[in-house]
Amino acid sequence: MKSKASAPGKVILFGEHFVVYGVKAILCAIDKRITVIAEDTSERKISIKSNIGELELEPNKPISEINSPLKPFYYLANKVIQNKNSGIKISVESEIPLGVGLGSSSACCVAGAAAISKLFGNVSKDEILKLAIEAEKTIFQNTSGADCTVCTFGGLMEYDKRKGFTKIGSEPNFHLVIANSNVEHSTESVVKEVSKFKERNEKEFSKLCEDESLLIENVLELLKENNITELGQKIIQNQEYLETIGVSNDKLRKMIQIGYETSFGAKITGAGGGGCIFALTDESNVENTIREFKNKNYECFSVKIDFKGLDTF
Ligand code: PMV
Repeated sequence: MKSKASAPGKVILFGEHFVVYGVKAILCAIDKRITVIAEDTSERKISIKSNIGELELEPNKPISEINSPLKPFYYLANKVIQNKNSGIKISVESEIPLGVGLGSSSACCVAGAAAISKLFGNVSKDEILKLAIEAEKTIFQNTSGADCTVCTFGGLMEYDKRKGFTKIGSEPNFHLVIANSNVEHSTESVVKEVSKFKERNEKEFSKLCEDESLLIENVLELLKENNITELGQKIIQNQEYLETIGVSNDKLRKMIQIGYETSFGAKITGAGGGGCIFALTDESNVENTIREFKNKNYECFSVKIDFKGLDTF
């Protein structure tokens, strides 16, 4: 039997880094997806094929001995076929650039958990999410679970470290133009640098957290009103806070300047140091903004919010 599932990537719209210190963040799912096809096989093996490589192993290997980015799929397949006399073949297709903060690994975990577990019966979205977070922990032990949650349920979400996730009901109609610096970043090391900044500048950092909290409350209102021009101003303001804590660099600043020329506002998304920036646009300036980035040889594409989340076939 074969089963197929797809899950969207994500963008952090507001609040990255400050979220680590208890400020709310706002995330959204994007209409770029990872699709996973799973098939049960009579041969008791787990094999995985994707555009980043292949992995074929017997079941029941300790996860710590597996050194592959495909490890979450192995974890999921191995867990699901316990007490079953079959193997699993998995293939993965991705529309999401990998390792640049757009949620590719969370989308893999969510679509993987759904495709694999649906081979053996119906499973609820909540159960799939739980399984996906377990799988993601094989790569990022400290994941907050926010990415997997937004990839499962889609739409917009606010995330608070203490209180968890709340879905935001509004459906604003904007386009995000995402430009990739093609510089890989380590979230862990950028987060560490921010903590050093905080230690050196306690007062300034706590004022920035207050300012960011206020900004997020304003953004929640603006999202309800679909006020794209004002949201653009908040994006510019949020970028200033990210500049202050030192997660930007010349390349990212250059890209953000390009975004400012035609869009409502642009900022880093995710950890910074590399990865992606996004520019907020609507129908009137999305094409011009893409053209500006492409003319300057940046990899770039536009996305809308995905309201569907996990999809199974
Ligand atoms: O670039 P990403 O998707 O790994 O985003 C990291 C977001 C941070 O706020 C910087 C860290 C975190 O755990 O929330």
